[in-house]
Amino acid sequence: MPSPDLVSTSLSEADHEVLFRTVINTAVDGIIVIDEAGRMLLFNRAAENLFGYTPPEVLGRNVDMLMPEPYRSRHDSFLQRYMTTGEKRIIGIGREVTAQRKDGSTFPMYLSVGEGRVRGMRVFLGIIHDLTDRTSRERDFQELQNELLHALRLTAMGQLTSALAHELNQPLTAVMNYLNAARRTLDAGGEQAIGRVREFMDKAVSQTQRAGQIIRRLRNFIEKRDSDRQLEDLNSCVEEAIALGLVGAPDRDVRITTELANDLPPVMIDRIQLQQVMINLMRNAVEALESATERKILIRTQRPAPDFVQVSVTDSGPGIPPDIVSNLFIPFSTTKAKGLGMGLTICKAIIEAHNGRIWVAAPKGGGAEFAFRLPVVEETQA
Ligand SMILES: Nc1ncnc2c1ncn2[C@@H]1O[C@H](COP(=O)(O)OP(=O)(O)O)[C@@H](O)[C@H]1O
Ligand SMILES: [Mg+2]
Repeated sequence: MPSPDLVSTSLSEADHEVLFRTVINTAVDGIIVIDEAGRMLLFNRAAENLFGYTPPEVLGRNVDMLMPEPYRSRHDSFLQRYMTTGEKRIIGIGREVTAQRKDGSTFPMYLSVGEGRVRGMRVFLGIIHDLTDRTSRERDFQELQNELLHALRLTAMGQLTSALAHELNQPLTAVMNYLNAARRTLDAGGEQAIGRVREFMDKAVSQTQRAGQIIRRLRNFIEKRDSDRQLEDLNSCVEEAIALGLVGAPDRDVRITTELANDLPPVMIDRIQLQQVMINLMRNAVEALESATERKILIRTQRPAPDFVQVSVTDSGPGIPPDIVSNLFIPFSTTKAKGLGMGLTICKAIIEAHNGRIWVAAPKGGGAEFAFRLPVVEETQA
């Protein structure tokens, strides 16, 4: 009997057999059929190419040989559970899994599984779509994104070079003053000389540490790196961002206030990326204040609801120019002669990658307020 699925009813049984084999073997995706015990009954050409096995090497053997550990040891029990409970984990659903080739290497694949009956026997048909290309494209994209973030951190710091040089110069000058004072004290001699010299030296040491800390923060921030999320203390992350992002601001008569909530839970973040967001917001605030007479920046952290924390940067500048307000977070939107218009775009991308949200508001008293929220991780998840 010709299959009712086929329109060409003129085909003979033998033709069907040929057609069936042709379909199976010309399929681009791998096709594998197994019986109830997981033994392979069919292994098409595409599967041969994907796994590097020939059919005689696999037919009759357990399909778990095509999986890496720990899936390999678990497969039999998965199959068993399905037989007894009928609970569908993959059948009719499909999912992304890892497969193992003959040479031991692994590759990502999309596996969809269907169930059928052949002569009263239950069989499972797996279709395997190789995802290697897609993941390498994703990886390329991820690398490109990291490069971009890195480039923009360099740009941000480049713009701060003179302020940073000034910031470093202060502890160095202090060290020189303490050392000179120590030498003069020694030259003058006297009973209390040693005690005073020790005091000067302690002060010199702490100034050196201060300079070292500035350099360390800077180096961490501009280092080239892969993204890395950990549970972090938001307030200390904010404080470090302030040290870099608002460097030099007090010299320009900008008054900085912080209101950091002390009951914040740790958040799952890429610390450097989050600092990149905050530094972008702080630089924008400082730049907006250039034309302002009253120059204030307020940095605030809070937990407005149990399931999220919020950071905001508020300035007393002129506010967002109306013609740009709807395009703020879009690339190349800038009102500055030397602006890149990438800062807020990057902020949005980073915050959204952390499952958060970023927005701008116009405070009652004027100026601009940028804020973002991040989800609080359940303790069990953490
Ligand atoms: N705090 C702020 N106050 C007023 N305008 C702002 C503020 N922050 C951002 N803007 C506006 O948004 C634009 C885009 O900012 P951004 O994406 O950081 O790019 P850029 O700073 O290179 O211009 C700025 O050019 C400015 O017009
Ligand atoms: Mg900017």
